[in-house]
Amino acid sequence: MTEDSEKRSILVSSALPYANAPLHLGHILEHIQTDIWVRYQRLIGNDVVYVCADDAHGTPIMLKADELNMTPEELIAEMYESHTSVFKKFNISHDNYHSTHSEENELLSQKIFLALQDKGLIEKKEIDQLYDTSKEMFLSDRYVKGICPSCGADDQYGDNCEKCSATYNAIELKNPVSVLSNTAPIVRKSEHLFFKLSLLKDEISSWLDTSFVQSSVRNKLNEWLNDDLKDWDISRDSPYFGFKIPGYEDKYFYVWLDAPIGYLASHLNHLKKNKRENLFHEFWDPQSNAEIYHFIGKDIMYFHALFFPVMLSNAEFKTPNGVFVHGFLTLNGEKMSKSRGNFISAESYLDALPSDYLRYYFASKLGTGVDDIDLSVEDFKQKNNSDLVNKYINLASRSANFIGKYFDGRLAKNLDSQELVEEFKEKSSEIYDLYEKMELSKAMKEIMLLADKANQYFDAKKPWVQIKDEANLQEVHSVCTTTLNLFKIISVLISPVLPEFTKSVFTFMQLNDPVWSDIQIDIVDKDINQFESIISRIDDNHINTMLES
Ligand code: MSP
Ligand code: ZN
Repeated sequence: MTEDSEKRSILVSSALPYANAPLHLGHILEHIQTDIWVRYQRLIGNDVVYVCADDAHGTPIMLKADELNMTPEELIAEMYESHTSVFKKFNISHDNYHSTHSEENELLSQKIFLALQDKGLIEKKEIDQLYDTSKEMFLSDRYVKGICPSCGADDQYGDNCEKCSATYNAIELKNPVSVLSNTAPIVRKSEHLFFKLSLLKDEISSWLDTSFVQSSVRNKLNEWLNDDLKDWDISRDSPYFGFKIPGYEDKYFYVWLDAPIGYLASHLNHLKKNKRENLFHEFWDPQSNAEIYHFIGKDIMYFHALFFPVMLSNAEFKTPNGVFVHGFLTLNGEKMSKSRGNFISAESYLDALPSDYLRYYFASKLGTGVDDIDLSVEDFKQKNNSDLVNKYINLASRSANFIGKYFDGRLAKNLDSQELVEEFKEKSSEIYDLYEKMELSKAMKEIMLLADKANQYFDAKKPWVQIKDEANLQEVHSVCTTTLNLFKIISVLISPVLPEFTKSVFTFMQLNDPVWSDIQIDIVDKDINQFESIISRIDDNHINTMLES
């Protein structure tokens, strides 16, 4: 937000993690990416609400609860505690973290479904379904495994393929086997409800044309769209852990129907908590000026960009302004896998190190592409030590030590190089644009170039030599003050990425939490605290603790 522009009102979400397992670093990657953008938006003065929730419905949760001898309600309550406590430790600044198993979500899901039904967009069809005769139940989604109809990979679930990301109906699997009884299911008729996507192709297409999506994502989506857009089965037979479909006996909404509505439900719940419920309809009105952005992984863009926008528009809700897609996190070049031991849980990372190192590492790797992002532990160690320790925090420790030792902890009245400080201020507008476009790795690169420049300036001035001659005292004072001004600008610029470290930095400089315009304000003739080590080097012990899971 530049000084003369209006404050934007922005709703941002990360995808809702399933409530059947603890979080892993892949989830954290997504939330860090979202959180950095959210913190940048707050820093520049926009009105941002960041929502998320646990995705609590569907068969994986039922299966997991069964396995643990728990009810689904008990399992999702336990996971809610676990997820929220981990996000907090990574300083993910959700304004609200809700659950899709909530009153708000049930009401909104019913409302949207009924609106689609009123518009003639819901069709009832009797279809063939897989049926487990020993368990006496219909099998769909995760209750059945078989060979992917699209790519031929075996051992795939009945909803989508982990190998090729295709989504399909369980009946399309080849050689299906019931996960519950290990027997081959029979085919039996059941009545299901379909959302008539095939009628909405043009509408989806125009949403795609007018909304923000990365170009590679747009291409993929157009491919799917022009391929063969089938009507979407939004119902499931009982037993199912989810919401009942109004007007039908024993039919439940498929989890992917109510999951994205969970974004709206979390927003509504947030407004309720703040006694501002009345703002909900204004915000979600199709004509509203508010903006909505969803951050997601590449495996779920089908739902977010093909189904969800037209569900919303046909129920008279505002559609998303953009969907921002990232690739998958790999570990040391390989797919993360618990069973193969190539895995770091969010908790074991936190046992080893503060979250800001991981935030910086991800920021330095994330851009607008959807390629996978690799966490290589050796690179992680080196990158943080070289950038955050040697380049960034070193600036403060080197200059602040002189200020403390020779100048009573007070900055000089004048800068030695106003020019260099002005150059940094100018450069910050470029970094602003990079943040806005979510070009995080480019932004980190530019910020580290500034840190290099500031270190070069300090080195060239050699205050450790100069200080030996009393006549140079004043110059050393203003050189160190200049260096700390450069450091302050860099700290404001990097604060969305390093909330914890920069909090200590601003306390050390006796400054308030930053806003973007603080970049323009020089700090002179003021006290600072004694510098204490804020960021320390990562060594192999930290890495070993992180990997011990
Ligand atoms: N519950 C659905 C999302 C519903 S949104 C209305 C879901 N849950 S998930 O727990 O499987 O994934 C949540 C998010 O984490 C998704 O955006 C997914 O792409 C992302 N990731 C899961 N594993 C990941 C990696 N290994 N790397 C990066 N992101 C990954 O899908
Ligand atoms: Zn496949």
